[in-house]
Amino acid sequence: MSELTVIVLAAGGGTRMKSKTPKVLHTIGGRSLVGHVLSAIAEAGATRVVAVVGHGREQVAPHIAELAPDAVIAVQTEQLGTGHAVAVGLAAAADEGEPPSGTVLVLYADTPLLRGRTLAALVADHRSSGRAASVLTGVVPEPAGYGRIVRDETGAVRAIVEEKDATEEQRAITEVNSGIVAFDAAALAALLPRIGNDNAKAEYYLTDAIGLAAADGLAVGAVRVADVTETEGANDRAQLAALGRTLNERIVTGWMRAGVTVIDPATTWIDAETELAEDVTLLPGVQLLGATKIDEDAVVGPDCTLKDCEIGAGARVIRTHGELAVVGAGAGVGPFAYLRPGTLLGADGKIGTFVETKNAQIGDGAKVPHLSYVGDATIGEGSNIGAGTIFANYDGVAKHRTTVGSHAKTGANNTFVAPVAVGDGAGTGGGTVVRDDVPPGALAVSAGPQRTIERWAVTRRPGTPQAAAAQAALDEASVTSDPASGGAADPAT
Ligand code: UD1
Ligand code: MG
Repeated sequence: MSELTVIVLAAGGGTRMKSKTPKVLHTIGGRSLVGHVLSAIAEAGATRVVAVVGHGREQVAPHIAELAPDAVIAVQTEQLGTGHAVAVGLAAAADEGEPPSGTVLVLYADTPLLRGRTLAALVADHRSSGRAASVLTGVVPEPAGYGRIVRDETGAVRAIVEEKDATEEQRAITEVNSGIVAFDAAALAALLPRIGNDNAKAEYYLTDAIGLAAADGLAVGAVRVADVTETEGANDRAQLAALGRTLNERIVTGWMRAGVTVIDPATTWIDAETELAEDVTLLPGVQLLGATKIDEDAVVGPDCTLKDCEIGAGARVIRTHGELAVVGAGAGVGPFAYLRPGTLLGADGKIGTFVETKNAQIGDGAKVPHLSYVGDATIGEGSNIGAGTIFANYDGVAKHRTTVGSHAKTGANNTFVAPVAVGDGAGTGGGTVVRDDVPPGALAVSAGPQRTIERWAVTRRPGTPQAAAAQAALDEASVTSDPASGGAADPAT
């Protein structure tokens, strides 16, 4: 198989983004624009990748190196045009090894919707036809801004004319240059030095290589892309959002075809890296971000954001914000739960309503059903944590851990002052502040006996609605308990 060198142009400024962040590092679907392009390139089977960087290269180059460690990074210090950028890329590739042979594919780093299979098809068509250059073109209703594909009376491609240099008649052409061009490596190397900059932008246009090749009588052709959204670029934030929505539609549709039920695709956002199993159901308002994985028969939503989370088979997650959390098979979460990093909920466990968890291992079948904070804790299998419990993990200086054994039952409104341990099968009373370890099977109670002061409201809050209500109840009790009126209770007790 002959060599395929891909040159990605990423040196431009992206001024219209109005951003500190270089354009190609802006993200859609949880991945940078250049990241999407690099993954399409990987799918197309490139043998060598050269990235041409310039503007913001101190940020762009390390990012590319991380995603594609084998890529050659070429620096174009001044942006003199796409033809110049490709020459810089070819020179860097030659410096790093051999000059590219076989096919050179040029593309831009800001077209994130490009599919790997489209690139592969272009390269295959280019090779089988034996052309010097093959341009990926699209027919668009609004060709403004694009280079137009000029064909002769036989339909053969003669040139690409840039918008600013086009005649009135050429501007009416709706077949445009996507910017993606496959070249025979030797032909490209011979054509590049002949490109001048005598044009409206005084730039070295790569597109001039097409006209030069055609004039030399070399075979030049075009391959039309079926889905023109693939070649759309993001120049400003409005276009970025539009591309993000198109990408999301593609991803959501892909998962539906793979067996996921999505009740409302318009309010469901799924990142490129997220993975879903068959028979997952997503209710409206769900965002699945990063490396989130959802196993079969799980039901997520409505209104959840899960980033880098793993949700087990058959789990039910409702109105929850989660990050770096693992939810076991058959477990239940929410509504209104906040799963922070390090949350591990076992199979059939429960993290209920208004519960926040962090760095917490909650065992199989264990439950934290209501209004609690569980930070830096281990809870054994089958245990139940009472409503309104706080795992007080921070003493103002350091964080400490609480351990609750298996099948423990703790009362409502407890505070566990870490570090502390509650043994297997132990219990605590309501309102207990647990400062000392509770041995297995013991019951810890720290709240004192209740002291009741009779008639307190009547004597200490006279003239208030509270006193009036108390007096009325006391009067009623004395009437109904009067033996003469048939009451049963003894007023003396
Ligand atoms: C280019 C094409 C045009 C095509 C359009 C598709 C040329 C001359 N024109 O026009 O035919 O229809 O893309 O979107 O190629 N870049 C560099 N170094 C440079 C100049 C540009 O790396 O010196 C990079 C930019 O970062 C960008 C890409 O090349 O990723 C294209 O440059 P841009 O200025 O956007 O070209 P267009 O005018 O859009
Ligand atoms: Mg452009």
